[in-house]
Amino acid sequence: MKRNSVLLLWIMVLLLNPLFRANAQYQIPEKLKWWYNDRFGMFIHFGSYSYLAHGEWAFSIENWEKTDYQQQVSPHFNPSEFDAREIVQLAKAAGMKYLVITAKHHEGFSMWDTKVKSFKDVTGDKMYSLPRFTSFGERDVLMELKRACDDNGIKFCLYYSILDWGHSSQEINHVNGSTFSTMKSDSERTAYIRDMKAQLRELIDRYHPASLWFDGDWTYNAGEPSPEKWWTKADGIDLYNYLTGLDSNLVVNERVCRSFGLGDYECPEQEVPDVPRSRQWETCQTMNRTWGYNKNDNDYKSTKYLVRELVKVVSRDGNYLLNIGPKGDGTVPEQTADTLKAIGEWMDTYGESIYGTTRSPFAAEPEWGFYTKKEGKLFVHVFSWPQEGMLSIPAIKNSITKIYLMNEPGKALDSSFENGSIRISLPANTPNDNDSVVVLEVAGLPEATVF
Ligand code: GLC
Repeated sequence: MKRNSVLLLWIMVLLLNPLFRANAQYQIPEKLKWWYNDRFGMFIHFGSYSYLAHGEWAFSIENWEKTDYQQQVSPHFNPSEFDAREIVQLAKAAGMKYLVITAKHHEGFSMWDTKVKSFKDVTGDKMYSLPRFTSFGERDVLMELKRACDDNGIKFCLYYSILDWGHSSQEINHVNGSTFSTMKSDSERTAYIRDMKAQLRELIDRYHPASLWFDGDWTYNAGEPSPEKWWTKADGIDLYNYLTGLDSNLVVNERVCRSFGLGDYECPEQEVPDVPRSRQWETCQTMNRTWGYNKNDNDYKSTKYLVRELVKVVSRDGNYLLNIGPKGDGTVPEQTADTLKAIGEWMDTYGESIYGTTRSPFAAEPEWGFYTKKEGKLFVHVFSWPQEGMLSIPAIKNSITKIYLMNEPGKALDSSFENGSIRISLPANTPNDNDSVVVLEVAGLPEATVF
């Protein structure tokens, strides 16, 4: 009994220890391999809110009545300048490998020609969708994007909001600062979930998305449904099984019902966890401060910030989903396009230190940067270039065949071993202000000596 308790205590100490957690590995399921390998994707928030240009939460924040929103906002959305090829080219130029676009956001407006009857406007006369509710016409923007993605080797994925401020089954709930939705009755809940699944089947049958990215699951609980907490853990499990039953390769995020370890990966939002998590994860990030187009938000993060965040995320074994919010006419804001191109310039030289790489082999992170690794290579990302021209990194178990700057692979750097460290001589000036990378070519997968 006593021996068991001591053993248990040791196991607990190990599990709670960040060093252990940093080095813990998990199996990547076969269907997730492309996603885990790709590392960098584009998020696109695009809906009738893009016309209003106040961000995708305007309906809630500005206290719109459904009727007014559906008269004054949604019908005017006419993305006639939407150019799927241009957007995919931008994603490609930035080095992004997958793309997730909002098929239906919280406002409830469907971006495709849904035939599921309950997704109508408040009058019940019209389908509340881009082709049926606006003067945009018969173009299918999701299909245009899907085709452009397929032609360019980018994986096409869709976002879907579980809560729906526009649907007749729900009312937006402003009580006690809530911004979610209240379900009108149990029978409407059952019917809504049935219809939601029918919409998702439409999306899968029509667009074959590589992944479905859920959101708007905040009205959840672990037990029985109530008007405020109408989405349950059991619903999340059922939804996941339903979707993977339709397509066993479909990758689904945890927000089928968050907090219960469901779905295929975790998604901390606009946040980078301090250490790797116990399973795969992806963080999503805005380029400015809003997801959907907001004409008053010009507060863009710098290229340096975004490149460094991407590196930090991958060094902690995460994926990075960076958002763009096209304008109501479908065009991409200039600053967004410029930022994507600038990230792409860095990725052109340094992309190999991101794709197919995994977490740092070391538990501790240096003050001057981060590490990523893959079979045969350790990538040392140097954010603050050492003044004295000498970089010191912890020893690794692997034999080292070559050390060089990633932008100058033909020129070997001098190195020596001292007190359990590898000391590498660097030129005086940083090769890249965003992030310069030193490569160690090694035998096998880089492994820290201390472990
Ligand atoms: C939040 C917001 C939503 C946005 C999402 C992206 O959940 O409600 O507007 O789409 O974050 O992760």
